[in-house]
Amino acid sequence: MHFNWGAQHSEALGTGDDDVTLVLDQTSGSGTESNGSFLFGSFEMLIKLVPGDSAGTVTAYYLSSGGEKHDEIDFEFLGNISGQPYTIQTNIFTRGGGGREQQFKPWFDPTADFHNYTIHWNPSHVVWYVDNISIRVYRNYENETIPYPNQQAMRVYSSIWNADSWATRGGLVKIVWTKAPFVARLRRFRVRACEYDGPLSINRCAEPTPPNWWTSPPYSQLTFVESNQMNSIRNDSMIYDYCKDFNRFNRLMPGECFKPQY
Ligand SMILES: *[C@@H]1O[C@H](CO)[C@@H](O)[C@H](O)[C@H]1NC(C)=O
Repeated sequence: MHFNWGAQHSEALGTGDDDVTLVLDQTSGSGTESNGSFLFGSFEMLIKLVPGDSAGTVTAYYLSSGGEKHDEIDFEFLGNISGQPYTIQTNIFTRGGGGREQQFKPWFDPTADFHNYTIHWNPSHVVWYVDNISIRVYRNYENETIPYPNQQAMRVYSSIWNADSWATRGGLVKIVWTKAPFVARLRRFRVRACEYDGPLSINRCAEPTPPNWWTSPPYSQLTFVESNQMNSIRNDSMIYDYCKDFNRFNRLMPGECFKPQY
């Protein structure tokens, strides 16, 4: 990981290469980018979000291919005024198309301690995990013409920025700059993934070989226990689901909304 933005006021903590402090103040946000790019794998990060008054800030941990028709898999953490809960937003873009937000209220205080946020991505599905609990799955229904990210390698990014134009109640709550700097801490970045080194990687990375363990059959579907856990978290903690937002899509819901999600 290296800073690709705002390095002048952020810092790598001394305890390890991957311990990073992301800072947002009135001069700038900041962000990091992985050195390599990857096609499928498991991407883990421990994150402790901005404590106190964080309204209008967004901290993000995501994979992105960049480019015009980009693929992207997101965790975004929308700050809130002091004492009010964060929103954990997940999203996925395929060939430039996003708009697949699902949001959750954390069932813990994400600012009090580090929590594990993992993206598991293989040819069968993408799974978002929070502290080893799967909260969302996006399955590959490519053979039913629903796009799936499997042709473009992605890099891993983290960032913090000012999103007070939209993040808090549609932009009604502004960042209180007297509370700056806003600091999010990231630790123990762990990538176990297929490193991309050119077009031949597209086949190599998709093969269910032992080095690509994340593509092997046990990882192509949630276990019974995982899907039960996910159902209960989604029942208790999901606060927005694009697949239920009929007005937004004028009742022309995205194709995957009609499919079993896992
Ligand atoms: C902030 O907290 C309020 C009250 O609990 C909640 O309605 C709102 O969705 C929260 N905002 C964000 C951005 O999470």
